[in-house]
Amino acid sequence: MSLAEEINKRRTFGIISHPDAGKTTLTEKLLLFGGAIQSAGAVKSNKIKKTATSDFMEIEKQRGISVATSVMAFNYKGTKINILDTPGHKDFAEDTYRTLTAVDSVIMVIDCANGVEAQTKKLMEVCRMRNTPVIVFINKMDREGKDAFDLLDEIETTLDIKVRPLSWPIGIGSSFQGVYNMYDKHLNLFDSNKTKIENDVIAIESINDKALDENIGTEEAEKLREDIELVEGVYDGFDVKNYTEGNLAPVFFGSALNNFGIQELLDTFIDIAPFPRSRETNVKVINPTDEKFTGFVFKIHANLDPKHRDRIAFLRICSGKFERNKFYQHVRIDKKVRFSNPTSFMAQDKSVIEEAFPGDVIGLYDTGNFKIGDTLTEGEKLEFQGIPSFSPEIFKELINMDPMKTKQLEKGIQQLTDEGVAQLFIQQPGNRKIIGTVGELQFEVIQYRLKHEYGASADFQAKNFHKACWMTSDDDAKIEEFIRRKAQYIAKDKDENYVFLAQTKFLLQSAEGDYPEITFHTTSEFKTDAT
Ligand code: G4P
Repeated sequence: MSLAEEINKRRTFGIISHPDAGKTTLTEKLLLFGGAIQSAGAVKSNKIKKTATSDFMEIEKQRGISVATSVMAFNYKGTKINILDTPGHKDFAEDTYRTLTAVDSVIMVIDCANGVEAQTKKLMEVCRMRNTPVIVFINKMDREGKDAFDLLDEIETTLDIKVRPLSWPIGIGSSFQGVYNMYDKHLNLFDSNKTKIENDVIAIESINDKALDENIGTEEAEKLREDIELVEGVYDGFDVKNYTEGNLAPVFFGSALNNFGIQELLDTFIDIAPFPRSRETNVKVINPTDEKFTGFVFKIHANLDPKHRDRIAFLRICSGKFERNKFYQHVRIDKKVRFSNPTSFMAQDKSVIEEAFPGDVIGLYDTGNFKIGDTLTEGEKLEFQGIPSFSPEIFKELINMDPMKTKQLEKGIQQLTDEGVAQLFIQQPGNRKIIGTVGELQFEVIQYRLKHEYGASADFQAKNFHKACWMTSDDDAKIEEFIRRKAQYIAKDKDENYVFLAQTKFLLQSAEGDYPEITFHTTSEFKTDAT
């Protein structure tokens, strides 16, 4: 098969949702439809429950589970589908944001009763940063929930994206009868038989077809006709280009738990979802069809066994063909590296692969050479853009509790932050280490892992910072002046960029007022904007 054919048959995407909307259930059902698993219950949730925060074995176990479910690939109707798993727990949001840099599109699951929730909003903001195409799946239609029009309004206003329903629900909760598929013009009747995977569909010639009345009753058929007329009047027709450019989200309704609406979703997905897309580097745009191999690391997982310090780096292939045992350029450290056991992840199985293509994600064993965002090439010196750091929300200073183990602590914190567990900022004088995270859970994970994997003992002292801001200006002198004047609130990030650790929202605003020449960014993504 040619490189172009390999690329055309791949779809790499992530499923995102607010916790409990049904991401795990939908993932499992997609695998079931794809024939990748035989029974429900095979995909373990990688949710870290709030109650488990102090149960470290649980955290370890959960980490193990998320290694196994980080990538799930399967073949469906001649398409190779790669699902990249994203942690639902908000304390691991950074991990999700980074995973979203490695997908070409997303399916967003929304609970029909809760509508758009806090995490949904944040994740959508990340998708917007790189115009990632989004398909919306409104789940749990077997339960009482909000009116469909209200839900669509809510999505449009709170997520700032245009929507276009491609299926329409007939009733909801106890009166839910199924959906009318506007894309393929058929009626899909709901049957709460969870063991049945495929739904019977009834072809409908037009919305005036009498078959509608026969199947769902005259009253419901009339209501559906009114709804569809309104939908056609209010929403623009579906345009694939608008979707692939990230401006329009097609919407489906269903119930993942009841296997309902999944096949429609999957069939439409393989029809419209983009195949591996071009990506920007600091030098040029890389097209998947470029003959030379390139890829980047978006996730690193530590080995669960502390006696083996190796890790798995997850590499997204962006162009060309990756081959086992071939030497590639590790751009950041300027070294040739090769991999004798690169692995692929097919549903639940991990196996050594000989080759992989754009869109694929492979696991590379790593003894500490990789950092998140690292690029591999066939020799070209380029780096992929857009693996942003986001401002953490909680800041604490790392306190060394065992001076005899200083070296271990240094190494441990360096490696854990390279893995992306948390962000590390260094403050002067005294090389003080400020750890920034989005959740409290990370501090427990860090403390536990420093102890068990590195033998170091650490504690944390809370720091009263509101945001870490990266700075840009056309006037370097202004930045230098600001850094001098605010020295006690300045630190350097992992890439030696200066950041301003603003104590409060008010102090950030007054810095912006005092230094209009400087732009303060709460993500490091501006580096992409600049190219
Ligand atoms: P998440 O990964 O997004 O956090 O959600 P998950 O799939 O774990 O689903 C959260 C809860 O919602 C689960 O119930 C799941 O069974 C339920 N659920 C998912 N899809 C549907 C649906 O279409 N209809 C209904 N009625 N429920 C749905 P749970 O009680 O929290 O867990 P479990 O004990 O059932 O696993």
